[in-house]
Amino acid sequence: MSTTLITNIGELTTNVGSPEGDRFGTLHDAAVLIDGGRIAWVGSADAAPVAAPDAHRIIDAGGRAVIPGFVDSHSHLVFGGDRAAEFEARMAGQKYAAGGIRSTVAATRAASDDELRERLRGFMREMLAQGTTTVEIKSGYGLSVTDEERLVTLAAEVTPEVTFLGAHVVPAEYADRADEYVDLVTGPMLDACAPHAKWIDVFCETGAFSVEQSRRVLEAGVAKGLTPRVHASQLGPGDGVRLAVELSAASIDHGTYLTDHDIEALAASDTVLTLLPGVEFSTRQPYPDARRLIDAGVTVALACDTNPGSSFTSSMPFCIAIAVRDMGMTPAEAVWAATAGGALALRRDDVGLIAVGARADLVLLSAPTRIHLAYRPGVPLVDQVWKDGVAVLAAPGATSGTENHGSLAR
Ligand code: NIG
Ligand code: FE
Repeated sequence: MSTTLITNIGELTTNVGSPEGDRFGTLHDAAVLIDGGRIAWVGSADAAPVAAPDAHRIIDAGGRAVIPGFVDSHSHLVFGGDRAAEFEARMAGQKYAAGGIRSTVAATRAASDDELRERLRGFMREMLAQGTTTVEIKSGYGLSVTDEERLVTLAAEVTPEVTFLGAHVVPAEYADRADEYVDLVTGPMLDACAPHAKWIDVFCETGAFSVEQSRRVLEAGVAKGLTPRVHASQLGPGDGVRLAVELSAASIDHGTYLTDHDIEALAASDTVLTLLPGVEFSTRQPYPDARRLIDAGVTVALACDTNPGSSFTSSMPFCIAIAVRDMGMTPAEAVWAATAGGALALRRDDVGLIAVGARADLVLLSAPTRIHLAYRPGVPLVDQVWKDGVAVLAAPGATSGTENHGSLAR
């Protein structure tokens, strides 16, 4: 028996909407049929396909809400150590600086593959339990050919969305020799990492890499078949957005400090702006005005940016709550940005929506509406998660077939 019917759904967010109507594709009293790993049918519960009682597993949602699994398009999950003391100092007034990355590089280089793998799988389980069914993972805490290769290889064990971020920061041994480090990144390091990755990223910011250096990194990645995404305008305004748009990057991430020109350029482009509210929260920086960005026509995604320095949360519901409370997004927009927006940022059309043929990645909330994700901040509202049609949490409401795995590989 490989089909599952989830019925009596009080509010179903499909993300299959119409521009003139409800763009979030919201259905009430709905049902979803899962067949194997894919969605086979979506519609009104009254019209759900009828089958013999034992033909499929039936889940009664009891009037609660179902949304697509979250698509977290920005994370750094392969690292050693943590930086709790740095966070504590920041909360006492110290400023966040890109250089903190180097302390995690030292801890990561010192960790064994097994230590890194165990940690990584723990984060994947943690994310799945909070409703995240697709995760992008960056390297960037190795910063040597061997260590970066180790990190992309480990990431590729758990997700197809692997990003090579050798240009995260200039490592200590290349201090004052940044251009030589870029030679390494665009040469032997890229050669070693590209076969394991889909994306090329660079931290284009004061204290990390200049626009010229960033361009070299991204263009070298493109020449190796990778698609660009860019960390930019996190600590101050800069030319990273312009570069990202010019190179048709899938996404520019952070965007805490955008100029009017950046916003116009993004609105006229296919590049998604991925906002990372956990970073502003954990570095005490101003939240970007998502309302203004959306109204200007920019496509906005939300991601957690899970990492030990700037944002050590893996909770998409937490990021949604901030986006609604402090960034001017409606709850529906925030859920869209965390699902369909993330899928666009990863150029995926099989996740982030609930439609026939899409992957059966769904979240059943223990709440009647998606609004509750922001309305009840900090409360664990994820009751059940289906990943490729398999119920992965041993939660109440899961009748059978639960299977907990720390991998989103497919
Ligand atoms: O996305 N901005 C650059 N990279 C990470 C921070 C990493 C760190 O502080 O360790 C980010 O915020
Ligand atoms: Fe990041």
